[in-house]
Amino acid sequence: MPGTHNTTTTATGDPLARFAEDVAQSLQQTPRRIAPMYLYDALGSALFEAICQLPWYRITRAEHALLARHAAGILAAAGGVPQIVELGPGSGEKLAHLTTAAREGAVIDVHLVDISDAALDLARRTLQRTGARITLHHGTYEEGLRQALAARRASAPVLVAFLGSNIGNFDPPEAASLLAAIRAALAPGDSLLLGVDLVKPERTLQLAYDDPIGVTASFNLNVLRRMNEELGADFDLARYRHRAVWNAQESRVEMHLVSTRRQDVEIPAAGLRFTMEEGESIWTESSYKFTPERVDALGRTAGFTPGRPWVDAEAGFALTLFTVDATRP
Ligand code: AVI
Repeated sequence: MPGTHNTTTTATGDPLARFAEDVAQSLQQTPRRIAPMYLYDALGSALFEAICQLPWYRITRAEHALLARHAAGILAAAGGVPQIVELGPGSGEKLAHLTTAAREGAVIDVHLVDISDAALDLARRTLQRTGARITLHHGTYEEGLRQALAARRASAPVLVAFLGSNIGNFDPPEAASLLAAIRAALAPGDSLLLGVDLVKPERTLQLAYDDPIGVTASFNLNVLRRMNEELGADFDLARYRHRAVWNAQESRVEMHLVSTRRQDVEIPAAGLRFTMEEGESIWTESSYKFTPERVDALGRTAGFTPGRPWVDAEAGFALTLFTVDATRP
């Protein structure tokens, strides 16, 4: 990019072919599924940003407030002016609290990892304004993290930021293996800043994931529109409805798209043709909610040492800095 010091790396492979393959595989499972990462095309990312503004969805605001308030303390605990790798940066505004706080010291190196070009671009524009030196990595978290750490400078510790309770969108074994992969890629003195949504009353969760003005419903239904547009599918969006349910046993909110009648579906690019029964659903997302003890255990199991969390008890949200100890393997 002329005139800037920002760079971009891109994951190999054809994203459309990968989408078609994933859809072909996951929509044939019982229950039918679509991986939540496919909710985030340009429109999906914009709808998610709108969700973050909803009064019923408090994760983003709570996390913003904690980061704004404790930015200096977080940076100090992470070793001063770390190089930051953010997995799934959204609009970049949350990380901006840290890069602004670090500005006094030196130019901070920021690596942003996402599969959405729209999200990467938005975050780059936000963070550029704070004077950070930005590198974009288009790809999965693991791919991007690998690329980002390959470019690390020996002189400063790395802080991996995984915010917004994005970890909650992974099933427990995937969450454990992602955290273990992050830990394995880091060195003593590095750290992980993890933002997680805590367990709260069912009614509060229900409103957060099925808001009265239908933004979350649109966000969910958009994945059908995306398949129509990108994979040539023939989903009739008017014949599906958004459903969000709290599964207390699994400690997660599940998002589904429920077929309101028996109907046939064809997805040419995925080589799929199937029938949705009335009431049958496509499971599009799980959003796990955690107790503070569970958060600690998650980090410890991956080999991190948890610090004392910064908590918004009212909103039920916690930020925890996990460090890589020199003494632990
Ligand atoms: C991005 N992720 C943490 C959000 C969540 O809360 O699970 C996605 C979302 N789904 C519905 N509303 C928001």
